[in-house]
Amino acid sequence: MTHLNNAPVARAGLRTWYADHARNLPWRLTPSLYGTWLSEILLQQTRVETGLPKWHLFLELFPTVEHLARASESEVLKAWEGLGYYRRATLLHKASRIIEAEGGFPMSYAAWLKLPGVGPYTAAAIASIGLGEAVAAVDGNVQRVVARWAGITDPVDGKTGTQAVQTVADAWLDHEAPGNHNQAVMELGALVCTPRNPFCNLCPISTHCASENNPDMWGILPAKKLKKKVQRWELTWNIARFENYIVAIQRPESGVWAKLWAFPETPPAADFHPLGALIDPVTHLLTHRRIEAIFQGWKATNKVEMEAYATEVGGEVMTWEELEKLAMPRLVTKVFDELHGE
Ligand code: ADE
Repeated sequence: MTHLNNAPVARAGLRTWYADHARNLPWRLTPSLYGTWLSEILLQQTRVETGLPKWHLFLELFPTVEHLARASESEVLKAWEGLGYYRRATLLHKASRIIEAEGGFPMSYAAWLKLPGVGPYTAAAIASIGLGEAVAAVDGNVQRVVARWAGITDPVDGKTGTQAVQTVADAWLDHEAPGNHNQAVMELGALVCTPRNPFCNLCPISTHCASENNPDMWGILPAKKLKKKVQRWELTWNIARFENYIVAIQRPESGVWAKLWAFPETPPAADFHPLGALIDPVTHLLTHRRIEAIFQGWKATNKVEMEAYATEVGGEVMTWEELEKLAMPRLVTKVFDELHGE
């Protein structure tokens, strides 16, 4: 691959560019393994602007990994509320307990990789940024920069494309400053080599780039395998009420909204009085689903009926105020006041 020969040149250009253009992200200002780990988990599927306030919130609520380990899972989920991909929160919490039990953070790429929620990208990012280990971290931004720069046309989420990107990223890595180098490539992807209309005129490595000023290349690179279709999902949630009580249910450990609290999908038996839809149907988009949610109201005549229904569906009777303290999908929190006020 001819572009491997250009790696030293691109390395120097990138280093200078990053020194001038790195954003002042808080985990860069006062680096710590805890802060770096947290930032990398938060940013796995979340934009920097959205992740930032959560990073501050987490450090405020759980200032050290021991605080996180000693918190309950529901506290951690509540703090994560609104970010999506909730498994990240449960795995972060599990990992914190392993770290505490082992008496400290892992001290190598290989050791980080063993923790729940830490894949090859995250382990490489933490080990390079936090420990100075020379491993190339390849996330979506890096895939885009590398595929365009080296002209890799195989899908970057397929076997040969992944391998080709990794080979170039490894050859490019700055062994003297691997953490800065990895962050610089990500930064370049976020600020300059953007998905649409990249700013080639601002790019420090454009003269060696296979896609420089070439909209046809930007349009096809990075190539991806065919996407899964977005599925339509009609969801009916049953809101059984008696006075200020409702029946809420914690969702299963896997699947959409894992472990978050919502309402039963099974309607209650005949004793309940139907109230019809409490609010207009709500449309909600997740990555692969378009959800049309209906909130069906039911009124019980006493609390015993509520308890029976809760037992039948594996839920719990609680007040609206108690539910509000638990972690819920954004689809519920965005209409919570409307539902409650009904
Ligand atoms: N995305 C994930 N980790 C990042 C980092 N350390 N810098 C910039 N963007 C990132």
